[in-house]
Amino acid sequence: MKVSKLSAPLGARIEDIDVRSIDERIWQEIHTLFLKHHVLVFPSQSLAPEDQMNFARRWGSLVKFPYGGLEDYPDIIVLKNNGKTADVNQHWHSDMTYNQAPPKLTMLYAHAAPEFGGDTAFANQHLAYQGLSDGMKSVLNNMNATHSAEGLAKLFGQETATAPKAVHPMIRSHEETGDKALYVCRAFTQDISGFHRDESKALLEFLFSHSVRMEYQTRHHWQAGDLVMWDNRSVLHFAVHDHGDEERVIHRLQVQGVSTL
Ligand SMILES: [Fe+2]
Repeated sequence: MKVSKLSAPLGARIEDIDVRSIDERIWQEIHTLFLKHHVLVFPSQSLAPEDQMNFARRWGSLVKFPYGGLEDYPDIIVLKNNGKTADVNQHWHSDMTYNQAPPKLTMLYAHAAPEFGGDTAFANQHLAYQGLSDGMKSVLNNMNATHSAEGLAKLFGQETATAPKAVHPMIRSHEETGDKALYVCRAFTQDISGFHRDESKALLEFLFSHSVRMEYQTRHHWQAGDLVMWDNRSVLHFAVHDHGDEERVIHRLQVQGVSTL
């Protein structure tokens, strides 16, 4: 197993490993690397849906999706290039924070990827927290915000009034490492508890920009066979749609996390 850092702010690439056949000791090593680097890339894998699910299950139970799952494997959602206008992932977010217990990790396996474009960008939210002043950190430490799926519902042409919502701390302590991270995102964070709307809007706007400063970011360019997993408690991500109609087929699954409050 060969490990190399992906970039200064986050990420590691793990080569010379087949995730279908790893023992407990190697898994422990991978788990430690995951907590340290937040995004892991395993190139050149050859995974059937069961293989991807078995590897993911080492971290916990899979999150079933109400729609879009594979017929025989409802835990796996297929991400396909449906053209830019139908794209719903072109925004910075942590997955499904409109649920009270959002998935702790997301795992994507690429079956087909464009030669150029279609990257996934990541931003390290532990660094975003550390980059705040002591004054701002202490203000945010006791604050909560509402996250909502209203925007998504609108995109899917569904009822917005019944879209799921959840309240999360704005600074989240990672339950495995104890490390603090900024926990807001432009896609889902709607307003700050106890604030007037205009106060909330101004502060959130600052945090949305701050959270994705260039020095917290990296990008992954996909190759077929890449397995990539990220920690939704530690990073935001953004699917860049700049590949026109070129084929991009990815199998996605998620592992259940705990309630944040
Ligand atoms: Fe996502």
